[in-house]
Amino acid sequence: MGNHKVEYPQKQNDTTVYEFTNEELAEIQKHVAKYPDKQSAVMPALWIAQEKWGWLPQGAIQLVADTLTLSFAHVYGVATFYTMYLKEFKAKYLLEICTCFTCGECGGDKLMNYTRKKYNLNHDDVSPDGLFWIREAECLGACDTAPVAQVHNRPLVHNLDESAVDSIIEGFKEGKLPAYTAVPLIDQSLIS
Ligand code: FES
Repeated sequence: MGNHKVEYPQKQNDTTVYEFTNEELAEIQKHVAKYPDKQSAVMPALWIAQEKWGWLPQGAIQLVADTLTLSFAHVYGVATFYTMYLKEFKAKYLLEICTCFTCGECGGDKLMNYTRKKYNLNHDDVSPDGLFWIREAECLGACDTAPVAQVHNRPLVHNLDESAVDSIIEGFKEGKLPAYTAVPLIDQSLIS
């Protein structure tokens, strides 16, 4: 897996043979069986591919299309509609900081700048050691705990601040993601 950018649908110079194992195919079949048609299993199949390769190279999109007997264009269309499907590989871990309206007002932009500066991120927002990259997220649906981050497509970190950013990045160095936490409840007395 190289550190390169994809500009779909251009052909990639990629000689990897993309195949699912029998276990992965069985997992995809379980999803297919839940729906009246194979097409409906495209999202879990893409997720299984992404978990395997860490992102979705063109060959993985083609494999999902072939597995579900769909067109490349259809699967590609789904993959490009959702930001959680990664169409490019920049680094091992992804940190997304919400800079949408509420989080932006509550410090999301400042935390993006803090992270860029403190960790000497390059113009592509990748750390010099290639361990992680950051990008801005649109609303993550947790505005009442703004600012919020999503860590590598998985847990949200609520009430993000500089020390929380630092501890997320320390976790990356140790190969760890933050634990899932319940959304902190607002003190109801504040709104009575
Ligand atoms: S604006 Fe950031 S979670 Fe809604």
